[in-house]
Amino acid sequence: MTGTHAPAAGPASTGPASADAHDAARRALARCDELATVTAVPGRTDRFYLTPEHARANTLVAGWMREAGLRTAQDAAGNVWGRTGTPDVPLLVLGSHLDTVPDAGRYDGPLGVVVAVEVARRLAPRAAELPFEIGVVGFGDEEGARFGATLLGSRAVAGTWDPAWFDLPDAAGTTMREAFVAFGLDPAAVGDAALDPGTTVGYLEAHIEQGVRLEDADRPLGVVSSIAAARRFEMAVLGEARHAGGTPYDRRRDAALGASHAVLEIERIARAAGAIATVGRLQAYPGGVNVIPGRVELSLDLRAETDALRDHVWDLIHDVLLARCVRLGLRLVVEETHRAPAVPCAPGPSAAVARAVTSVAGDVAPLTLFSPAGHDAMSMAALTDVGMLFVRCGDGVSHHPDESVREDDVALAVDALEQAVLELAGLAGTA
Ligand code: GLV
Ligand code: MN
Ligand code: MN
Repeated sequence: MTGTHAPAAGPASTGPASADAHDAARRALARCDELATVTAVPGRTDRFYLTPEHARANTLVAGWMREAGLRTAQDAAGNVWGRTGTPDVPLLVLGSHLDTVPDAGRYDGPLGVVVAVEVARRLAPRAAELPFEIGVVGFGDEEGARFGATLLGSRAVAGTWDPAWFDLPDAAGTTMREAFVAFGLDPAAVGDAALDPGTTVGYLEAHIEQGVRLEDADRPLGVVSSIAAARRFEMAVLGEARHAGGTPYDRRRDAALGASHAVLEIERIARAAGAIATVGRLQAYPGGVNVIPGRVELSLDLRAETDALRDHVWDLIHDVLLARCVRLGLRLVVEETHRAPAVPCAPGPSAAVARAVTSVAGDVAPLTLFSPAGHDAMSMAALTDVGMLFVRCGDGVSHHPDESVREDDVALAVDALEQAVLELAGLAGTA
């Protein structure tokens, strides 16, 4: 079976996790397996915002939260919450997302939720000792697979929801407003999902690395320093659809040729500058085998460690693509669909995560990693201080059914996330 938690090749983890953490890791992994079956498409995992699968996942996770001793609720944006319910103290949020990309793996998002549930289960009996309430959240949308806009669950919680999103349609033409109502939510009440920054002390997220740096360094866990700056574009190269046989080369305005140059130039420019750019969608129209494409649409996802590098690389790409299209007798149309600044993790939570990794994994100088992948912590940073713990994943594979993690690493992640919470509580070493 693909995407299981069978140990990946390579040496074992550096530090032994507690026996309870191994039980917790087995339970967490079994829960990721179960969530992977909550899907719109049998045989693979597709779980998108405000769908029946989203509702089923919330029900499942709420049951696990209650077993952990938490009080559960669904918020006004469809996020599922479990809270210790401690009165008169601020809130520390732990969590990640429950939605997926199409044909997803089982750990991107869900692992962070089920690990947080295990940490809350352990700490629930000590709730009165902590200077904060613990709230575990499973965000309903991070990937943006249904409506294009991303990080919807955490942006609602951070209070940065944009009402214009309600008009976004999904592939079937259903608007987000209609999907809210079909899910049993009131679009007018989405503001109720926002937490009060004055009473929220932080957000900690565990997530698979989705890269190979931990594996290459033989480390089970890492500390995230910052999350990438990103921009996304929908582009169209416009030429003229003509007969594939009858139109001589000097009369062609072939949009596919322009788009092909674009893909190659995007890779060349981004690679040389130290950014990462991906053309994930490429569609030729009218799409006849014997018709020169008159229009090619392509998406661009661009990420870099800083906003300045990202913008510099986009300017280079745009100039080169325009020049290339002009030379080929084509037009280029560009629409920006997403722009997110680089988000640094906050010093306090990051230091807590680093001390936790040192204490549980015996890793005196924990690897500190910049995250090229986006995370809910990006939007939660508008609300509160955020910290992130990365968990090694097999061969860096993610956004694919072959995502894998080691049980040993997940056990260490449970211990480390608990320890990071205790560090923030000033109770480190008292687990
Ligand atoms: C989310 O997984 C992203 O980085 O695209
Ligand atoms: Mn993802
Ligand atoms: Mn994710």
